[in-house]
Amino acid sequence: MDVKSPLVVVLGTGGTIAGTGAGPDDVAYQAAQLSVGQLLQAVPGLSGVALEARQVAQVDSKDMDWSVWQALARQVQAALAREDVGAVVITHGTDTLEETAYLLHRLLDVDKPVVLTAAMRAATSAQADGPRNLGDAVRVAERAARQGQSGVVVVMAGVIWPGCAVRKAHSWHIDAFDGGGCEPLGRVADDGVVLDAMPWVPPGGAGWSWLDRAPPPRVEILTSHAGADGRVVEALLAQDAKAGDPVKGLVVACTGHGTIHQGLTRALEKAEQRGIQVWRSSRVARGGVQCREGDRWPAAGSLTPAQARVALMLDLLGVPPAHLAG
Ligand code: SIN
Repeated sequence: MDVKSPLVVVLGTGGTIAGTGAGPDDVAYQAAQLSVGQLLQAVPGLSGVALEARQVAQVDSKDMDWSVWQALARQVQAALAREDVGAVVITHGTDTLEETAYLLHRLLDVDKPVVLTAAMRAATSAQADGPRNLGDAVRVAERAARQGQSGVVVVMAGVIWPGCAVRKAHSWHIDAFDGGGCEPLGRVADDGVVLDAMPWVPPGGAGWSWLDRAPPPRVEILTSHAGADGRVVEALLAQDAKAGDPVKGLVVACTGHGTIHQGLTRALEKAEQRGIQVWRSSRVARGGVQCREGDRWPAAGSLTPAQARVALMLDLLGVPPAHLAG
């Protein structure tokens, strides 16, 4: 590979970054309308970067599922296996970005960078942030490839976040993401200059084939809250007795540092007796749930409940455990 001009493959999956509305002042829009090629055409100043674009999917990321993850993983693997490719950039919706980023972090097994980006405003909006974010992501990817950095990161609003810890922290601000307590890995200045702050987190290295080895184990997320009496778990267990796709794992978005309503606890104990794995995450924005001696159920560290669900699915598939962020 010519290390001076690494090829960057840009994979499109949809999202608001590819969304269109009726006009520049329209708040209403439809996600996942423009192709990744069209998105790249709207980014100024990338003429010096060797780019190849490929459309993997065209989804509103609220509808993300295992089959799109499989298709994406295959394309990432194929691109990174090429000698001439230095990095992959992925355009994605913001809503499940933290899940995809965490999944790719666990699976990435080559020493090359994968950079995800998204947007909070549609491409047709007068405040469209997609072109800036995509331009930043390509610059970060190209520079990381030249410098031999590897790992999965998310670039949004001029900030580089580790893929293992990033999460959507605001539902409508342009600056919507944070690292759940982790500091940014770096920033991209307004003139496109990439500034490092911290070393990138090494990828999990599990390999891509895990996604194709078996059907995805069914894992559901439950929240502990006032009045959480566990009837939702009873309903799941009753349905399982009839249906062909039984629940294998439950992630609880716990109160505080991993506590669960006594009613829900009793129901989870019954679920556990049926062989269902129970993990604890926190519904609180910062701190997560750290392991403590005598814990009834495993703690998901600082992963969000949605990331903990991905982690439990991988665990049930047999993927070797990773250090849980935080
Ligand atoms: C999506 O997640 O695909 C839609 C919302 C967004 O990208 O902000």
